[in-house]
Amino acid sequence: MENFAILRTPKTTYYGRNAFQNVGMEAALKGKKALIISDKIMESLGYVKDCQQQLQKEGVQSQVYLGVNSEPTDQYVAEALNILKREQCELVISLGGGSCLDTAKAIAVLATNDGYIGDYMGGKKIAENSPVPHIAIPTTAGTGSEATDVTVITNTSNDVKMMIKQPAFMPDVAIVDPLLTLSSPKNVTAATGVDALSHAIEAYLSKKAHPMTDTLALSAMKLIISNLLTAYNDGENVDARESMSLGSYQAGMAFTNASVCLVHGMSRPIGALFHVPHGISNAMLLPAVLEFSKEACIDRLADIGRIFDHKNESLSNEDAAEVAVQSVKNLCLQLNIPNLKGWGIDQQAFENVVEKMAFDAIDSGSPGNNPKVPTFTELVELYHKCYAYQFSTEEKVI
Ligand SMILES: NC(=O)c1ccc[n+]([C@@H]2O[C@H](COP(=O)([O-])OP(=O)(O)OC[C@H]3O[C@@H](n4cnc5c(N)ncnc54)[C@H](O)[C@@H]3O)[C@@H](O)[C@H]2O)c1
Ligand SMILES: [Fe+2]
Repeated sequence: MENFAILRTPKTTYYGRNAFQNVGMEAALKGKKALIISDKIMESLGYVKDCQQQLQKEGVQSQVYLGVNSEPTDQYVAEALNILKREQCELVISLGGGSCLDTAKAIAVLATNDGYIGDYMGGKKIAENSPVPHIAIPTTAGTGSEATDVTVITNTSNDVKMMIKQPAFMPDVAIVDPLLTLSSPKNVTAATGVDALSHAIEAYLSKKAHPMTDTLALSAMKLIISNLLTAYNDGENVDARESMSLGSYQAGMAFTNASVCLVHGMSRPIGALFHVPHGISNAMLLPAVLEFSKEACIDRLADIGRIFDHKNESLSNEDAAEVAVQSVKNLCLQLNIPNLKGWGIDQQAFENVVEKMAFDAIDSGSPGNNPKVPTFTELVELYHKCYAYQFSTEEKVI
């Protein structure tokens, strides 16, 4: 750690069952007309209508953008921004998974700052004006995007998933209501749950970790490791869903302040080129990346192993670190995570872009935070290893 650390969080967070009921009151403090960024699934579940009715009760008008039908691109951002400007909306409310939240973050900043969203990548351009207020309401657990100053937007001209991070992208208000996640189907629960676990693990192993992020990352891991399988197998279990929402939020706070590492660096190019959902592509990489990193972070990995196996107090750090790797692998197996081959990615198509993926991963900066920083050649080898990675002794193809 350097001499000091920074902890950025949303100004206000509502957390708990029925926290959603506060959206109208919070919106009324921020403006008279809101743009709700959501998708057709949220609309069909009645969440969008519920949100609009709550706003109406508090005298806030609303417009709706339901065009987020995959992980966000610069085109969604341009479309939604046009609506915000045309309708003179004074605040943005995102209601959905990380895709809706990230779209809203981008338009909140671009509403008051000029340029293309990609200009803000890597701090090339800094948002100088305050964004329009943003209330973020996640329905997955999750990306933790409600607690991060990160937005991930695909550049459709070069197929790069741009990781854009600056304080202006932090939502003003996070409303974390686990009841909104009850409808999340099994595949989404698995993908988003492993994403949250990856955030906590990477924040804990990151070279930029510091004591405040460690506390959040460890707490998040405990919550996620003891509740993810229950939420996956029994989606109606409110206690498990609640713990997942809390763990996801804490993991978001941890990684936005400590950074993610190699898993996320390698995962974004897979998402951009093969349209694998973010959480699944993380899960395809996580065990192999931990195996690669292990020698450089035995003690920290041992702490993670002891969360998985808290009963065995006599484990050496070396053994506990191995428990962490094997337990993550086993968790992925139980969540039915396929490898890249099992997902249906053609081997030749994969070979054709593996060097581009390695280049884009390094360019994102995330691999540089890893306890063991890979060379370009090692990255290419790791991608190859993950292509046909076996989560068990018998290959599992779904
Ligand atoms: N900004 C950040 O800090 C951050 C962190 C991690 C990931 N991300 C980004 O977030 C995006 C992924 O977000 P995600 O994993 O939440 O998935 P998502 O937002 O893409 O949602 C996946 C699917 O699940 C559906 N869904 C969401 N909630 C549901 C619910 N409660 N009930 C039924 N269906 C529901 C959505 O409609 C969608 O079809 C990626 O683009 C990723 O790169 C951002
Ligand atoms: Fe993530």
